[in-house]
Amino acid sequence: MTQLPVYALNDAVPLPVPSPEFRRRLAQRRSAPAQSLTAPGPTDAELDEILLLGARTPDHGKLFPWRFVVLGPQSRAEIAERLAVLAEVRNKPAKDQAVLAKLTAAPITILVISTPIPDAKPIWEQELSAGAVCMNLEHAASGFGYSASWITDWYAYDAEGSALFGVKDGEKVAGFIHIGTLTEPPLERPRPEIATKVTRLP
Ligand SMILES: Cc1cc2nc3c(=O)[nH]c(=O)nc-3n(C[C@H](O)[C@H](O)[C@H](O)COP(=O)(O)O)c2cc1C
Repeated sequence: MTQLPVYALNDAVPLPVPSPEFRRRLAQRRSAPAQSLTAPGPTDAELDEILLLGARTPDHGKLFPWRFVVLGPQSRAEIAERLAVLAEVRNKPAKDQAVLAKLTAAPITILVISTPIPDAKPIWEQELSAGAVCMNLEHAASGFGYSASWITDWYAYDAEGSALFGVKDGEKVAGFIHIGTLTEPPLERPRPEIATKVTRLP
């Protein structure tokens, strides 16, 4: 059972209050190497809440142009075997076969599929919304003390490969969000010099 507040349509949703803790968590957000994610992973109830929070994401036109496939360890192991065969058929280099280890390591994986609706809002905006869902899932997982990894890899862009996960024509993989526990703190990676990324206009 979720402990989250639930709002009905047109309820007043509380305004944000300052939260140094929330900002600190954002400042130390860090992805995990997917192959380092171990048990424990989210319980079923935690996973429900993570999905609910992930779906609470901006989208233009209330289209909700994305969907989730929750992948347990068994389905990923089976699909990884078939992907290994596909990698050979495609004559993929060894590194493309090695990345399959990232697919199977974590206790749980949420596949976010972009499902844009043609002739509605711009497709780019609908795809951006799917990306925002991925980020929100990572934050939600972090809220339970789990680490996460947002991966695509070659099979996300291979029609036959992505079909193994249920991705249909007209859909795209936004990301595999692998969730689990890290036993060692991750090391910081390069971050942009923020001034080089910002233009300020009066
Ligand atoms: C759309 C997308 C796809 C990604 N795909 C991969 C991937 O296939 N393999 C990988 O090692 N990292 C991938 N990454 C990068 C990691 O998810 C992660 O963002 C990166 O390691 C930086 O770490 P940070 O999130 O702590 O800044 C991807 C990121 C994004 C946004």
